[in-house]
Amino acid sequence: MILSEQSVAMINEALTRYPDHKSAVLPALTIAYQQVGHLSDDIYREISETIGVPTVEIAEAATFYTMFPKHPVGKYLIQVCHNISCALLGADSLVSYLEEKLGVSKGETTADHLFTIVTVECLGSCATAPMMQINQDYYENLTKEKVDKILEQLRAEAVT
Ligand code: FES
Repeated sequence: MILSEQSVAMINEALTRYPDHKSAVLPALTIAYQQVGHLSDDIYREISETIGVPTVEIAEAATFYTMFPKHPVGKYLIQVCHNISCALLGADSLVSYLEEKLGVSKGETTADHLFTIVTVECLGSCATAPMMQINQDYYENLTKEKVDKILEQLRAEAVT
């Protein structure tokens, strides 16, 4: 069993809020992701057993959303938007800068398991492009200087 008793209890609590159990799929995936840090086939099966929705439907929902990594990632998942507004304002340079700073390529995780870089579609913050999401937080109007400060701050937080 991958999901903790606490996660299962939280999923069961989420179920009480929805007359249709399918509506609890995203909350359940979120709870599982927050516990484990990524999703997997085994997790889909466990959620299926808990909420009574077929595993395939849970997997379909999970694979639709890029916010749920499907393999282990670093403590900080850096999702750089590379859609039109961000692309026009330097998303590619931002990714290259992150790759250079962290010494990994897009899709990879640093050796200290702190950072994973991925690119994603529009995160709905086009007016503040270029932007990225790290875990639950948005970082907007990015410049190299801002990226330096963000990484520095996250590294400091990781050791405290
Ligand atoms: S294009 Fe990047 S947030 Fe919309």
